[in-house]
Amino acid sequence: MATSMVIGTQWGDEGKGKIVDCLAERADVVVRSQGGNNAGHTVVVDDKAFALRLLPSGILYDNKTNIIGTGVVIDPKVLLGEIAGLEKEGKSAKTLKISDRAHLIMPYHIALDTAEEASKGDAKIGTTKNGIGPCYADKINRIGIRVCDLYDMDVFKEKLAYNVEFKNKILRNVYGADGVNYDEILVDYINYAEALKPYVTDTNIALLKAVKADKKVLFEGAQATMLDLDHGTYPFVTSSHPIAGGASTGAGIGPNYLKNIFGVVKAYATRVGAGPFPTEQLNEIGENLRNLGHEFGTVTGRPRRTGWLDLMVVKYAAGLNSLDYLAITRLDILDSFKELKICVGYKLNGKDVEGFPADLKDLEACEPVYETLPGWETDISGIREYDKLPENARQYVERIAEVTGVPLGIVSVGPNRNQTIDLVKIF
Ligand code: GDP
Ligand code: IMO
Ligand code: MG
Repeated sequence: MATSMVIGTQWGDEGKGKIVDCLAERADVVVRSQGGNNAGHTVVVDDKAFALRLLPSGILYDNKTNIIGTGVVIDPKVLLGEIAGLEKEGKSAKTLKISDRAHLIMPYHIALDTAEEASKGDAKIGTTKNGIGPCYADKINRIGIRVCDLYDMDVFKEKLAYNVEFKNKILRNVYGADGVNYDEILVDYINYAEALKPYVTDTNIALLKAVKADKKVLFEGAQATMLDLDHGTYPFVTSSHPIAGGASTGAGIGPNYLKNIFGVVKAYATRVGAGPFPTEQLNEIGENLRNLGHEFGTVTGRPRRTGWLDLMVVKYAAGLNSLDYLAITRLDILDSFKELKICVGYKLNGKDVEGFPADLKDLEACEPVYETLPGWETDISGIREYDKLPENARQYVERIAEVTGVPLGIVSVGPNRNQTIDLVKIF
């Protein structure tokens, strides 16, 4: 079957966009199935960086179908802004298809996200404040507004009136924040409806047809395993299912169609936002990683927290996602280190930990067990063949494969398309 998937194995920003862009060269269809504009996927084409948030990373080629599936939450203003930005660069979104079942992010979701975070004080999650959580909450609560509602104004107005009244009570009375205005939202969303109309369709039909016709379909994960609502470090997670199974529900495709699953592993660890991070380095090593890797959020510009590679996390991701291959990214960022540590286990109260702790107090009390490997102290960004990598670099990535039990599929040594070493051919 000609499908493949790219999944984040850590806390996001592993370089999924770059890996999708590379695999997309040979794909026919690229699909986003969850998340929203909390994602920031950087794709570098001819030294120009594109920061994609809602648009699938296949959009930079002009001959691929790009699908925004049902499980994605769509802020129409952001999406239209992205499309306009693309057009300004001489590219086009004409191949885009948007699910008529996807839920819409509304201004009250953003207001609630901001107010909820502020009210939590030190316990805040550190969300992107894009309204992601409140939008998914409405979907689960069965009061959300879907893309198809934009084209039935009676339904849209009724749902909007209900939500604005209800949300304004919460915003004003619970949080002491400003409410939102029904008339303004209505006018804006009527305009968005018109602008998005050419792209809206039943993506389930398009996707199933593509898969049945043996088209090469690539699923692009957003966020990552440790941010999964069920399996991540709850509550410091996002509100969707970034694991491989989430693509089945989110894109609307049976699980038997999902093959060739790549887990993207950044060669060290980062996290943006709050929550436990066992291998975090709040020291010079962490500073070095942040500066060498320019680890600042694509969307928010926030400094990312940094630490050593945690293979307890990647092992957990390997099982949850049934990974077929690893895509190791940003190996070049480690070029200057004399030695490198990788976490191969946790100890809790002196005992080895099996699996990944659910209780955050346990996780915080876990002590990482490190192995120290020699660095390669060579610039590897120009290397294109696996065998030409320095022996210590090969030893580092091979140890990752060994500990996680997942073979290497791709090794990435720079942000550009050509700075990629392919060890498998999927399509
Ligand atoms: P995503 O959210 O998983 O798509 O990752 P982001 O785009 O947020 O962050 C990854 C960053 O690393 C982007 O700036 C990419 O251009 C860049 N990148 C991806 N792969 C590599 C690599 O192998 N080496 C280097 N130096 N940068 C990379
Ligand atoms: P990509 O696809 C890194 C984090 C936020 C916060 C938590 C919840 O670029 O890897 P949300 O706004 O989703 O309710 O925030 O999840 N987060 C990400 N961190 N990369 C992302 O996406 C993220 N999307 C959400 O920082 O901690
Ligand atoms: Mg990102």
